[in-house]
Amino acid sequence: MIDYKKLAGPELLRLDPYKPGKPMKEVQRESGVENVIKLASNENPIGPSPKALKALEEFLPEVSRYPLGDSYYLRRAVSEKFGVDMDEILCGAGSDEIIQLLYIAFLPKGTNAVAPFPSFSEYYIFAKSLRADCKWVPVREDFSIDFGAVLKAVDENTRFVFLANPNNPTGLAFGEKELTDFLDRLRPDVMVVMDEAYIEFAERPDMPDSVKLMKKYKNLLVMRTFSKAYGLASMRCGFLLADKECIDVVQRVRPPFNVSMAAQVMAEAALGDDAHIDKVVAQNAEGRNYIYGELKKMGVEYVPTEANFMLVKVGDGRRVFDELLKEGVITRFLGGEQLESYIRVSVGTAEENRIFAEKLAKVLGR
Ligand SMILES: Cc1ncc(COP(=O)(O)O)c(C=O)c1O
Repeated sequence: MIDYKKLAGPELLRLDPYKPGKPMKEVQRESGVENVIKLASNENPIGPSPKALKALEEFLPEVSRYPLGDSYYLRRAVSEKFGVDMDEILCGAGSDEIIQLLYIAFLPKGTNAVAPFPSFSEYYIFAKSLRADCKWVPVREDFSIDFGAVLKAVDENTRFVFLANPNNPTGLAFGEKELTDFLDRLRPDVMVVMDEAYIEFAERPDMPDSVKLMKKYKNLLVMRTFSKAYGLASMRCGFLLADKECIDVVQRVRPPFNVSMAAQVMAEAALGDDAHIDKVVAQNAEGRNYIYGELKKMGVEYVPTEANFMLVKVGDGRRVFDELLKEGVITRFLGGEQLESYIRVSVGTAEENRIFAEKLAKVLGR
């Protein structure tokens, strides 16, 4: 007899698997609603650059070949765009894999990462999966990050601080001064990972220029993804910018062909289409403002966002999430003490935003 649970050990069994947004097909089946809309995973409703789609088509005859292991051309494009050396770049199958690789390289059992809470759950799940730890530090009541508390949580075994900016699920961002004040007070042998998955959407004028700051702070790492503004979530592609010695270490644990060639060619083409990103960002701003307006009309509070999603204060978050599902609208209920009364909704197309507002008004009886 083999006892898998015993072999995994109690720490792993305490983990809940990551819960993604509900798939549209499933909701369609359960609700009987034909036109289900998904505003649950902060995806790009327009899709990727046409240049990326063309690159995919041109690549298709080569699918039988292994991808370039070192993502050479994609790294070259990133290097040119961000003004960093190629040996300061590592590509991964989404930020997810990059977090895992960083942990495999630098987070052995007995060490920990620190991150504000609520934030991206994978910082915690991946740490625990390696039998290491992630210490969550609650944000303030207004959801802003308590940098003093984060500093206090850092101990002699801390290897990482993860800062999502803008943060998911709050949508809030912090400015450059807050970051440099924090970096100046932090032990320089703790890595600070700026998770900038949503940075393209951020509007506050003092957003940190993390790439520039990397020159001064060797312990500053920057993570970007093609899953959000670039509209390539399904391709699984992102990259890490860091000191070349850091990248050199992480390269040693990277699977040899971690980023598919389809993802590499699409991401490279997408990087070269700034006009498309401008369009995506402008449409997001328009959709966000529309939703703000509708929520105001309903007298519903929300957290103003720097990203492509927002927290909406609906009272009983779980009930409203469930009721919206029955109406064929998939949002996200995250729950927990601070988010019990909120749902998180992604900004969709103009039509999706309109349906969301209409169904929310119905569910809330406004
Ligand atoms: C803050 C944050 N970081 C990282 C990710 C993961 O993105 P990727 O698709 O690149 O793995 C997400 C996904 O939702 C996120 O919200």
